[in-house]
Amino acid sequence: RMHDTLALRGRVVTFRDNPFVTDPVAALHHEEDGLVIIRDGRIERMGAYADTLPHLPAGTQVVHYPDCLISAGFVDTHVHYPQLPMIAAYGEQLLEWLERYTFPTESRFCDPAHAHDIARRFLTELLRCGTTTAAVFCTVHPQSVEAFFTESERLNTLMIAGKVLMDRNAPPDLRDTAQGGYDDSLALMEHWHGRGRQMYAVTPRFAPTSSEEQLELAGALLARDDSVFMQTHLAENVDEVAWVRQLFPARRSYLDVYAHAGLVRPRAILGHAIHVDEPDLATCHDSGCALAHCPTSNLFLGSGSFRLFDAMDPRRPVRVGLGTDIGAGTSLSQLQSLNEAYKIAQGTGHRLHPAQAFWLATAGGARALHLDHRIGTIAPGMEADLCILDPAATPLQALRAQSCDSISDLLFSLMMLGDDRSIRATYVAGRKVHERA
Ligand code: GUN
Ligand code: ZN
Repeated sequence: RMHDTLALRGRVVTFRDNPFVTDPVAALHHEEDGLVIIRDGRIERMGAYADTLPHLPAGTQVVHYPDCLISAGFVDTHVHYPQLPMIAAYGEQLLEWLERYTFPTESRFCDPAHAHDIARRFLTELLRCGTTTAAVFCTVHPQSVEAFFTESERLNTLMIAGKVLMDRNAPPDLRDTAQGGYDDSLALMEHWHGRGRQMYAVTPRFAPTSSEEQLELAGALLARDDSVFMQTHLAENVDEVAWVRQLFPARRSYLDVYAHAGLVRPRAILGHAIHVDEPDLATCHDSGCALAHCPTSNLFLGSGSFRLFDAMDPRRPVRVGLGTDIGAGTSLSQLQSLNEAYKIAQGTGHRLHPAQAFWLATAGGARALHLDHRIGTIAPGMEADLCILDPAATPLQALRAQSCDSISDLLFSLMMLGDDRSIRATYVAGRKVHERA
């Protein structure tokens, strides 16, 4: 509905700066008793309640969340919706895990009814976790993409998704061909990219499952339109990296396989990027592509430790977002991703400040995707995708919150102890799409 106004009152937390570049506490903007005025799906005004109240149009409904934080919705930069039913599959590392669990699960998405059912459940779960935008892998079946965008459009969520391209080293029923994959992707892209809030991503699964010809054609699709996304996996697992070296002996590195095909550019999202070197990170910086840090997945599959603070080096910063990577990840909650990201940083000799952590999950993720002019912060003109965080969602968290004497400490307790229970409500383009029971 147009010309709708709504206002949310509570403790507002958002960002004015990049906390990896400036002092993290200074980068965080905190409004103790704030008011966010929303009109036609966008934020019209945000400030201290007392200062902002006079600007509230007469008759506007004010929803008060007295003990909660109002944040931009979370951004998940790498996730597979079809893998939702196989979350927590026991006992394998990446390549065996794909063969044993993933491919059989994805085979079912030839059935549109199944695809719609899982897409609907997936989006419901995302919103329950406060995530309002995600970059989503579908399967090789065009109908899996059709189902996902149809369900997302129904909710008006800003989503990026694409058909998996996979023409070799996969079961026959999950393979396309270089030309068939190109044609199907082009048709989906023409139908869905820029339709409402939906955006298309050219999606080669990873180098081992695409022929050189398929990667070249993926590059040709991208060359048609700068605003289209690209998503794939990069250097997640040591056996995978060795396999890529065998399959593409002429390339300097795994990243170079993608760069050679024209895939490494702004709006390209490379999942994992654990086993990369300094020249690769320099290429990422120069190209404007993004890396998706997937903490719960990397720990679950034993893939290794992403060097977040190397990637964020202010001398040549790389865009980084946070990915849950369901079904290899173990939670759709970005609070749980941050919990594990903190521990991974500890293990690599770094301290992830809560302001840096929440920035990665919101403004940093939006910036990684070149969407920071639309989402990721609470400021006039931004699209009103918001989540309401309850720092006292459980008796233990309520106890811990009592001893928090700063907003940083409160955010830290949320990211270490929080999950879907911490999400009091979620708003998409100014409309409430989830409310905790
Ligand atoms: N590499 C190629 N495909 C996949 C996938 O589905 N999940 C993960 N985690 N890594 C991959
Ligand atoms: Zn993945």
